[in-house]
This record gives sequence, structure tokens and C-alpha cells, in this order.
Amino acid sequence: MANIDLPIRDSFGSKLGVVAATAGSAVGLGNIWRFPYVAGENGGGAFLLIYLCFVFAIGFPVMLAEFTIGRRAQRNALGSFKKLAPGKPWYLIGLMGIVAAFMILAFYSTIAGWTLEYLVQASLNGFDGKTTDQLTRSFEIFQSGSFRPVLWQLVFMFLTAFIIYKGVKNGIEKYTKILMPLLVVLIIIICIRSLTLEGAKDGLDFLFRPDFSKIKLNVILIALGQAAFSLSIGMGTLITYGSYIQKDNNLPVTALQVSTADTVIAILAGVMIFPAVFAFNINPAEGPGLVFIVLPNIFEQMAGGYFFSILFFILLAIAALTSTVSVLEVVVAYFSEELNMSRSRATVIAAAAISIVGIFATLSFGPLSKALIFGKTIFEWFDYLSANILLPLGAILIVLFVGWYLGKKNVRDELSNRGELKGKFVSTFMVIVKFIAPIAITMAFIYGLGLIG
Ligand code: PFF
Repeated sequence: MANIDLPIRDSFGSKLGVVAATAGSAVGLGNIWRFPYVAGENGGGAFLLIYLCFVFAIGFPVMLAEFTIGRRAQRNALGSFKKLAPGKPWYLIGLMGIVAAFMILAFYSTIAGWTLEYLVQASLNGFDGKTTDQLTRSFEIFQSGSFRPVLWQLVFMFLTAFIIYKGVKNGIEKYTKILMPLLVVLIIIICIRSLTLEGAKDGLDFLFRPDFSKIKLNVILIALGQAAFSLSIGMGTLITYGSYIQKDNNLPVTALQVSTADTVIAILAGVMIFPAVFAFNINPAEGPGLVFIVLPNIFEQMAGGYFFSILFFILLAIAALTSTVSVLEVVVAYFSEELNMSRSRATVIAAAAISIVGIFATLSFGPLSKALIFGKTIFEWFDYLSANILLPLGAILIVLFVGWYLGKKNVRDELSNRGELKGKFVSTFMVIVKFIAPIAITMAFIYGLGLIG
């Protein structure tokens, strides 16, 4: 392998900063909004079990593979492949990642916008004294509108672009270190309230007692998609972030910490939501509105609910922001490094283009709710295609690249920090990336897409 040059690029300042920023990307609406509703639609406990297997058997190694590529190449998601495999078509993985980034940000910003609306409603004491029916109804009215959801989405995209424009170290890294732990504390407080509601036990049963009769074959792919989405893998986000990680960072430890933190928060979100779902008689398969209907109910019943609701939606919006920033960074790093644009120009163009596409996702709940393409709205297509198809496909190609192209010598060199760490696990890791992960993901595709049977 040729000597790796170290161009002067922005980078993370400290080890804690790396974990905070990467965990900031991983932990977001995927854990608190998407995980509960997808688990709710797909049977609860059995889904959780499959999800956990995927996180640790596939997600963690893919995360490590992405870090390895990014830190070795010191480039953006597409440029990394060009640098490590010059003249070969591997860079197409990066291109696919850019497409996935567009789709994800387009629909993610819809939901992120909802968190801002709910922050305002919480501040106006909008949940107080309302029944479950009223809270459900007011969510539906808001969601199916046009002006407010689009406005909030654009506000959110603006905030994302603003942080990216400012650069990584002094923006994301600084704030995530403080805010993420605070979010966890708050979730635990809300969990306690939820668990002490009457009828909470049914919710815990739903989440933790697997009922395999509820499992359809496509659930396997949906669980894999959720794992990929939640861990931010499969589209080059972690290649890009990996390229900002210092050379002395212990990558396997970082990847394990981030995967574990992400999973713990998803489970806590489940513990926060499901007891309340059953206590208030809400349908667990309610869909994307689930947390926005359930949470106000909990706050309404909670001592200090007014205060906690405001704090919660602030933190949720921030958790979403540290994720949207990481998605936009993929596109901006690509535009600026590969297409030679200035960072500010790249930021404006990417954010504007994604916002325009995003409006269609937002309107899918209102004026465009009847505009179905093969039975799905535009929002549903972006969500389905990115999480369940593009990310798992990206993940497969990434592990194949690391396993079969980059090879053991390079991987060992990178993961052991050029021999400074022992790297005992490298052989196991190679078996996973060469065989186990690609085969498992392929199987999930075959079953999930109903290609057989
Ligand atoms: N992992 C984020 C979440 O769980 O909210 C969403 C996400 C961020 C997905 C970055 C993909 C990505 F590249």
C-alpha cells in the first residue's frame, strides 16, 4: 500500500469528540421515532430480538469497516473508494451513498420538522387537559396540513446547513458532548413515568416477549434496515466521519461504544413508548405518528409535564440535528472534495436541492397522501428504499470491499494503528466481512423481498 498522505482537513479534536459526533449521528429519530413504530408494526419482541442480532453481528462490523475505509483514505465517501481502488468501479458505492443521503434527508427532515412544531406546542402548554382522542386528532390535523409542516422542515434544513457551514469541530462536536447524555437522563425519567402508568405491563410484554407467530419473512429485512438506519451505516456517513478520526483512535472500541449506545437508547425509547401505548389504548401499529401521539399523553399525565415536554422536544430536535448534519456532511464533503466546490457553495446547493425533494415527502401526509406509487406515498418510498434497500446494499458492498479488495494486511495495519494495538480480533473480523455479513445480508434480501417462496 502506498504511503498515505495526510492532507490538511478538518478533523475531530478528541476521542470523546469522535464518540460524541458518531453517536450523535447514530442516535436520532431512528431510535426514538422510527424504532418504536417499526417495532410496533412488526410484532414487538420478536422484531427486537432479530434487530439485536443484526446490530451486533452485522451493524457493528460494517461500522468498523466504514471507519477503516474512511480513516485509511482520508477522503469523502466517494473519494475514499477512488483513492483506495483507483480505476475500479468500487466508487459506485459512494455514489449510491450520495443518492441514499438525498432520500434519507428528504424524509428525515419532515419528521425533524414535526419535533419543532411539538416543541412550540409544548411551550404553549398545548397538551394540557387533552384526552387521548384530542391529542391524536390534533396530531392528524397538523400532519395533514401543508404550510406548517413544510415551514418547519425548511427551518430544520436551514439549521442543519448552518452547522455544516460552520464546520464540524466547533459545532457538532462541542454540543453533542453535553446534550446527548442529557437526552438519556430525560428518556429515563419519562420511562419511569410510563412504567408507572396503569397497564404498563402489557407494553413491556409486547416489547420483550417475542411472539414468533407474528413474524413474517419480510420482517427480517425490515429489522436489518432499521439496524442499518439506526447505526448510520451503509451510505458512507461513517466513512466520511472516519476520515476525520485521528490516527491513534482505537476504532473497534469506538465502533463498539457507538453501537451499544445506539442500541441502549432504542430500547429505552421502546420502554418509554410501549407501556404508554397500552395504558392509553393506542394502536402500536399506528405508524409514523406513534411517538407524537404517545408522548403528549405521557406528559399530560406527568408531574412537571409542561417542563419535561419542552425539554424533551428540545433534546429530540437536537438529537435529530446531530443526525441530519452527518447526512448532509456526506453530500457536502463529496461536492467540495470531488467537484471542487467551496464548502459554503456545496452546503447551499446540497441543502437547497434536498429541501425541494423533501417538500414532496412532507406533503405525502397531506395534499399528496393520495398520490400513491405502487401503493406507497412518496415519503414511504424514500423511507423504504433508503433504509431497506440502499443501506443494506451499501453495507454488503462495503464489507465485500474491505474483505476482498482492501485485504487483511491493510485492515490489520489500520485497525492496529500500524502495529500499536494488538489487533487480535482482525482474523475474526475478516471472516465476518468476507463471508458472514455478506451472506447474512443477502439472505435477508432474499427473504425480505420475497424472492423465494
Ligand atoms: N442514524 C440516524 C438515526 O437513527 O436517527 C439516521 C441516519 C443518520 C441514517 C445518518 C443514516 C445516516 F447516514
